[in-house]
Amino acid sequence: MPLHLGPDDGPPSMHDLLATAGYRAVAAGLRLGVFDALADGPLSVGDLAAALGADPRGTGLLAEALVSFGYLTGGPGGYANTEETTKWLAGDGYSTVDKFWSVVLFESWEGLEESVRTGKPAIDFYAWLAERPDVLRRFQGMLSGHADAIAPEVASVVPVGARLLDVGGGHAKHAIRLCTAHPSLHATVVDLPDALAVGAAAVTDAGLCRRISLLPGDYDTLDLGEDYDTVLLFNVVHGRPAAANEVLLKRVASALRPGGAVVLLEHDEHPADRASDAFARVFSLNLFHGQGGQVYGAAEIGGWLASAGFGEPVTHPLTTSPGQSLVVARKA
Ligand SMILES: C[S@@+](CC[C@H](N)C(=O)[O-])C[C@H]1O[C@@H](n2cnc3c(N)ncnc32)[C@H](O)[C@@H]1O
Repeated sequence: MPLHLGPDDGPPSMHDLLATAGYRAVAAGLRLGVFDALADGPLSVGDLAAALGADPRGTGLLAEALVSFGYLTGGPGGYANTEETTKWLAGDGYSTVDKFWSVVLFESWEGLEESVRTGKPAIDFYAWLAERPDVLRRFQGMLSGHADAIAPEVASVVPVGARLLDVGGGHAKHAIRLCTAHPSLHATVVDLPDALAVGAAAVTDAGLCRRISLLPGDYDTLDLGEDYDTVLLFNVVHGRPAAANEVLLKRVASALRPGGAVVLLEHDEHPADRASDAFARVFSLNLFHGQGGQVYGAAEIGGWLASAGFGEPVTHPLTTSPGQSLVVARKA
């Protein structure tokens, strides 16, 4: 948790040094299971170390660091989760987000300078993910949880006919929600094989195997089909260079019937609140580093849509996910 230091507490980079060290300490706490071990009540340092199967001195020093950042209270006689820690970090809820982002920031950002210097992504994010099945599972889990939260609002905006294609739809939650709401809808979800394995389990659990087809492969080269009423492109264009998006949107246009709609879900380039704005900029840097993408502005996305043959896009800011919007455009 931020220490809210003042100007007399050292140079600005010192504040960030502490914040970064605090986030790394939280990541260690999550990976070692500190917050789960304390979920049922306080433990002495010895008992905490035993519960983690960890070294008592190392456990005590980590616990002290977590106390200084406000994640734990107490001391060697008994460390406890704070109320906020219990709410956000114990269990499998929001902690998935921190488990994912801490690996991204502390491992994949190693070559950030190289990306900035060369203008080319120093890592291939999806190849990097494929080598880390746990991180991939968390990534899809995080997206899937977010999709659950926004799905009702998304379903109220997405125009639906008889056939829908979800490009990069991995976890399949949007296809499931829309097929549940529209009994005559059939959906196809395209994604890389590892991501679709997550979607396959969700589709089976939802009992929708007959109405949702899963198409594994590369959406840049697969035959996407034709005559769809709707194509979803959720959180996809920000993970790609502009030129690749222009080509993909033309492929999407070919897959739609005349009058069909493409719906993009994207982060706003400059959200109104400070935290979302800072996140959009850091996220953009991360996308550039791992995928050659970035958070694109509405004008640039509108330009790609126009050159792919779509009409004027309509933007729907999401109240269930502030800082993100749906962009709907019809094929002329
Ligand atoms: C940021 S995720 C978005 C997932 C989902 N659409 C959502 O909004 O929750 C991007 C998805 O695109 C998939 N993807 C990336 N490159 C791909 C490619 N070349 N072909 C197929 N799928 C790809 C990833 O596996 C991932 O599931």
